[in-house]
Amino acid sequence: MGFTIAVDGPAAAGKGTISRALAGHFGFGHLDTGLLYRATAARALDGMAPEDAAAALGPADLERSDLRTAPVAAKASEVAAIPAVRASLLAFQRDFARRGAGAVLDGRDIGTVICPEAEVKLFVTASPEIRARRRFDELIAAGAETEFEAVLADVHARDARDMGRADAPLRPAPDAVEIDTSDLSVEEAIVRAVQIVAAVRS
Ligand code: CDP
Repeated sequence: MGFTIAVDGPAAAGKGTISRALAGHFGFGHLDTGLLYRATAARALDGMAPEDAAAALGPADLERSDLRTAPVAAKASEVAAIPAVRASLLAFQRDFARRGAGAVLDGRDIGTVICPEAEVKLFVTASPEIRARRRFDELIAAGAETEFEAVLADVHARDARDMGRADAPLRPAPDAVEIDTSDLSVEEAIVRAVQIVAAVRS
């Protein structure tokens, strides 16, 4: 019987790091669902209609080297507001959630729409300034040239789009456990997440 961990939250809150650590700890598969929206956005920036891009996504699209760039992130939150795009990506995510011994999915709507029956739901947050600082540091480390203020503006814009859209807006599921990582080290956040999951698994 599969065991699903849903990890939702806004941009750069630490979902990916926590999800990878949980998957490693419990021996589960991990799906970064943001990559599906980023890959759809990258093909849309190439000129394809977003609905067609989402319907035609293949493994090679998820390997593109530009998926972590700021323009692709901004476009991802635009295409993610299109119901037909979300509908195309739904079945793949649900199949992944029930595959093997267990799965961790991270995104915006995993606990609310994709896997409302997930055994554990986490909502990972941090203040916009701290999230922007983390994303800025990541972008600089990756060689990008950018200003902190521009990254903060992008975080605010994406938060507004992700929380304000009509279809599957970002919000915690009623039974989600919140982890605010603003004042936590990476290790502390991981320990807390592992404890929450372990309490349900045992
Ligand atoms: O890594 P980061 O948190 O910055 O973003 P991401 O998880 O890669 O997601 C990029 C964009 O895809 C988000 O801003 C959302 O608009 C969208 N997304 C979504 O709508 N639903 C999901 N389950 C995952 C991502």
